[in-house]
Amino acid sequence: MSLRHYWQAASQFVGALGTNYKQIGAIAPSSRFLAREMTFHLRGERRPLRILEAGAGTGVVTVEIGRQMRPGDWLDVVEINPKFTEFLQKRIDLETVFAGKQQQIRLITAGLETIPGDSVYDAIISGLPLNIFPSGLVRQILKTYERLLVPGGTLTWFEYIGARQMQQPFANKHKRLRLFRIARLVGEYVQAYQFRRKSILVNLPPAFVRHLRLPKTVQANGVQHPSAGL
Ligand SMILES: C[S@@+](CC[C@H](N)C(=O)[O-])C[C@H]1O[C@@H](n2cnc3c(N)ncnc32)[C@H](O)[C@@H]1O
Repeated sequence: MSLRHYWQAASQFVGALGTNYKQIGAIAPSSRFLAREMTFHLRGERRPLRILEAGAGTGVVTVEIGRQMRPGDWLDVVEINPKFTEFLQKRIDLETVFAGKQQQIRLITAGLETIPGDSVYDAIISGLPLNIFPSGLVRQILKTYERLLVPGGTLTWFEYIGARQMQQPFANKHKRLRLFRIARLVGEYVQAYQFRRKSILVNLPPAFVRHLRLPKTVQANGVQHPSAGL
């Protein structure tokens, strides 16, 4: 993404931030370095993929996905904030990285957890800020990832390094309990399914990009999900 495009995205982002921190959960759009790592699975030799991007914001990661898209790929972009989807639509219509690919991309203004279907996508790339959500919503989102991914599909997300730990000292009892529950939910997932983790220091704030592969048996055999019973 060019500096001009990054600047436009950043102004949009800051404009939306004022009223919506609890949904956006970031102080700036992700860096190009983070966006590149988020598209790790789309690089190199591969078959056509059905891709879902969740929480696209102003489209920093969407642009990288667009750059990696091949004939036969399909991309659904789900973003809850209509101001962002409006902005994204303009980017998709106008920016050269999306030229000739517009017919392969669908923008959906909705919460990820409301998207219907089972085993719909080969890869999910998510910018959802799990650490600021209520733990019930985090559980719902993790189950949605599982439901929407094909068995063996890949799930990529990022989280700010130390985000939960940094909130702890300033948190009241209620917030500490929420952070504890999220750490447990996410931690079990990561322990069970993560196969690659990359630190991205050139980002505000620095972040981990996590890559998980859900096992082929999760839905087919009804093997207990890491999030079950929490
Ligand atoms: C941390 S920002 C990430 C934006 C962008 N992917 C980036 O890396 O710069 C999170 C985005 O998720 C969106 N969001 C929050 N809750 C959502 C939900 N339940 N479903 C879909 N999008 C959601 C917010 O509106 C925001 O644009």
